[in-house]
Amino acid sequence: MEASETRTQVLPGNDGAWGAATLLSAVGIEKAYRRLGRRRKRAQVLAGAGIELYPGEVVGLVGENGSGKSTFMKVLVGALDADAGTVTTRGRIGYCPQEPLVYSRLTCDEHIELFGRAYGMPDADVRRSRNELYEGLNFARYAGVRVDRLSGGTLSKLNLALALLPDPDVLLLDEPYAGFDWDTYLRFWDLVEARRARGKSVLVVSHFVVDEHRFTRIVDVRDGRTWSR
Ligand SMILES: Nc1ncnc2c1ncn2[C@@H]1O[C@H](COP(=O)(O)OP(=O)(O)O)[C@@H](O)[C@H]1O
Ligand SMILES: [Mg+2]
Repeated sequence: MEASETRTQVLPGNDGAWGAATLLSAVGIEKAYRRLGRRRKRAQVLAGAGIELYPGEVVGLVGENGSGKSTFMKVLVGALDADAGTVTTRGRIGYCPQEPLVYSRLTCDEHIELFGRAYGMPDADVRRSRNELYEGLNFARYAGVRVDRLSGGTLSKLNLALALLPDPDVLLLDEPYAGFDWDTYLRFWDLVEARRARGKSVLVVSHFVVDEHRFTRIVDVRDGRTWSR
């Protein structure tokens, strides 16, 4: 998807607010999961959640385990249909899922090639971006290693690199640094800051109070709603 395009996903429900600078807007998002073994009983996870993302900000998405952060992010990226609400996005969206979606028999290089094609990137752009990410996250030495031979930390690096590869306008990262050591954790924030400085927008699911100073603002997921701090 080119940066000039606007994708509008209209789900049953409300209309979204939309300003000229908005990169992503979600309004009135509702989502319930069916409970196993309890017919007709549904667990309401999101009940009117919403968010807006603007260029040049890094927003932290926080909340207790099971509060619905991952569900919300999946709805934002279009990986999961909501029951109600509207998501409107502008430009390219990058998504780093909490659980890496990778192919155990493919190497890091092969993943990057595959995702680069899926994103419709020219080969030269894939190579440039790949080299920058290998260096930025310090895992070039695993380029030719199959994913099922990688440590958890290196797998997390690949998962993150696949989201960063097309240099998306909006980056949605679901606990991207699980398994990172301190050096990688700092490298991760350098990459995020470099994107923010170029006017990109980054939404990060985070647990750590220690991250608080890194965010432009924080959004809490609680009782199925989103609360700005
Ligand atoms: N596919 C699913 N089917 C049924 N319940 C789910 C599913 N995914 C998540 N849930 C439930 O929805 C709630 C929110 O989950 P999740 O969005 O993963 O929360 P968080 O990311 O904040 O920890 C939890 O109670 C979880 O068990
Ligand atoms: Mg989660």
